[in-house]
Formats: sequence, C-alpha cells, structure tokens
Amino acid sequence: MKTKKTLILTGFFLIFSAILLFGNSIETIPGQIVVNPEVKKKFPIKSHHAELSFNCVHCHEGQGDDPEKFKTPGDEGCLSCHKDKQYLANRLKFMDPLKFSPHNSIHDGPTLYCDECHNEHKPSINMCSECHEHEINDKLWMKATP
Ligand code: HEC
Ligand code: HEC
Ligand code: HEC
Ligand code: HEC
Repeated sequence: MKTKKTLILTGFFLIFSAILLFGNSIETIPGQIVVNPEVKKKFPIKSHHAELSFNCVHCHEGQGDDPEKFKTPGDEGCLSCHKDKQYLANRLKFMDPLKFSPHNSIHDGPTLYCDECHNEHKPSINMCSECHEHEINDKLWMKATP
C-alpha cells in the first residue's frame, strides 16, 4: 500500500518537474509533434491567430510529425474555420456596390485562392495590386491584407 502511494507521488513529481523544465520552451501538441523554439521562430504565426493560441496543427493537420516538413495548407486549411468563400464575401458586402471586394471582385467573384494574397509566416501581399497599383497601395479600395 505504502509503496503504491510513493510510486504515485514520485510519478506526480516527475510530471511536475517535466512541466517546469520544458513547459515554456517546447510545445508538445497532442499527437506527439514537438515544436522547439527555433522552429517556432522560423514559422511565426500572425498576431490575429497567435492571440487565439493556435498551434501548428490547426492549419497543418495530418501532415506528419516533422514540423519543418509541413506543406502549404491551401484553401481547405483556411476554410475549415473560415467556412466558405461566399461567407467571406458576405462579410465584406459593403464593398460590393463598387465591385472591389478582394473576396468578391468584378473579375473573379468569390473564387480566388487565399494564398494569392494571405500568407501566414511571411507578410501578406495583394494580388490586385499587380494591375491596380495606385488603388491598392494607396488603400483607396481596401485595407492592407491582414
Ligand atoms: C483553427 C481555425 C482557423 C484556421 C485554420 C484559420 N483561421 Fe484565420 N482566424 C480564425 C479566427 C477564430 C479568427 C479571428 C476571428 C475572425 O476574424 O474571424 C481569424 C482571423 C483571421 C484573419 C484576420 C481577421 C481580421 O479581422 O483582421 C485573417 C486574415 C485570417 N484569419 C486568415 C486565415 C487564412 C488565410 C487561413 C489559412 C492559411 C486561416 N485564417 C486559417 C480561425 C482560423
Ligand atoms: C485578392 C486578395 C485576397 C484574397 C484572394 C483573399 N483575401 Fe482575405 N482579405 C484581403 C484583404 C485586402 C482583406 C482586408 C479587407 C478590408 O478590410 O479592407 C482581407 C480580409 C480577410 C479577413 C478579415 C475580414 C473578415 O471577413 O473577417 C479574413 C478572415 C480573410 N480575409 C480570409 C481569407 C480567406 C480564408 C481567403 C481564401 C478563401 C481569402 N481571405 C482570400 C485580401 C484577400
Ligand atoms: C493559421 C494557419 C497556420 C498555422 C497556425 C501554421 N501555419 Fe505553417 N503555413 C501556413 C500557410 C498559409 C503556409 C504557406 C506559406 C505562408 O503563407 O507563409 C504555411 C507554410 C508552412 C511551411 C512550408 C514552408 C514552405 O516554404 O514550403 C512549414 C514548414 C510550416 N508552415 C510550418 C509551420 C509550423 C512549424 C507551425 C507552428 C509553429 C505552423 N506552420 C503554423 C499556415 C499556418
Ligand atoms: C491582370 C490585371 C488585373 C488584375 C490582377 C485585377 N484587375 Fe481589376 N481591372 C483590370 C482591368 C484591365 C480593368 C478595366 C480597366 C479599368 O477600368 O482600369 C479592371 C477593372 C476593375 C474595376 C472596375 C473599374 C475601376 O477601375 O474602377 C474594379 C473595381 C477592379 N478591377 C477590381 C479588382 C480587384 C478587387 C482585383 C483583385 C481581386 C483586381 N481588380 C485585379 C485588370 C486587373
């Protein structure tokens, strides 16, 4: 009886020490993916997602257990949370009368790939600026791509 108690206590002590040792530096995601601080720094997450305490697997689900070998998640990765392209278009409906919504433009409607503008680990861009440099860069039509 006594040894069992000691064992349990030792177990708790070990787990507690492990949390103290690694709790702040290494992130272990359910599913045994270990993300060390250098990797975290190499793939910074945008503030609008970081403040929600996202981890890598929120966007790189089912891509194996080596974080450095993750691949671009593509539209499905984003739409697993942001619903669908029509839903996103509706959220910027106030831009529709002049047809310059990035999510529902005069040319493409709600069909573009997210990564034509949004990046996660590097600054986003705005594909429309390829032709409408003045309107986009001077933010006449829309804000900078978050
Ligand atoms: C696990 C869920 C989840 C995934 C996956 C996800 N997002 Fe988000 N994202 C959110 C939530 C929640 C917010 C904050 C609330 C909101 O604005 O909808 C947000 C915010 C954003 C914002 C900022 C909104 C603003 O008001 O500035 C952008 C841009 C964005 N996400 C784009 C993307 C893109 C592009 C992808 C794919 C690479 C993606 N998100 C993947 C949940 C997610
Ligand atoms: C043509 C460029 C472009 C494409 C393609 C694009 N976005 Fe955006 N997105 C923007 C810009 C610019 C804004 C900021 C608009 C503003 O508020 O003026 C924005 C805003 C957002 C927001 C915040 C506004 C909101 O609805 O809450 C989210 C979330 C978002 N985008 C997600 C996505 C996702 C997911 C995709 C792919 C399905 C996508 N975007 C495709 C340029 C783009
Ligand atoms: C909100 C969604 C999101 C989260 C969270 C996220 N990523 Fe990404 N990841 C992306 C997108 C989108 C790309 C495509 C390139 C870009 O946008 O920067 C990408 C690309 C990558 C790539 C491929 C880079 C290349 O050039 O081929 C790696 C590796 C990666 N991410 C690792 C990570 C790691 C590690 C984490 C956790 C610390 C993480 N990602 C968290 C969305 C995300
Ligand atoms: C490959 C070049 C190209 C790209 C990329 C492009 N456009 Fe255009 N756009 C044009 C041309 C050409 C016209 C017609 C001539 C004009 O009016 O400038 C036009 C016209 C427009 C107009 C109506 C006329 C005006 O200038 O007021 C709007 C609004 C517009 N585009 C929005 C967008 C948006 C939003 C994007 C990004 C989703 C985009 N365009 C991407 C070439 C482009």
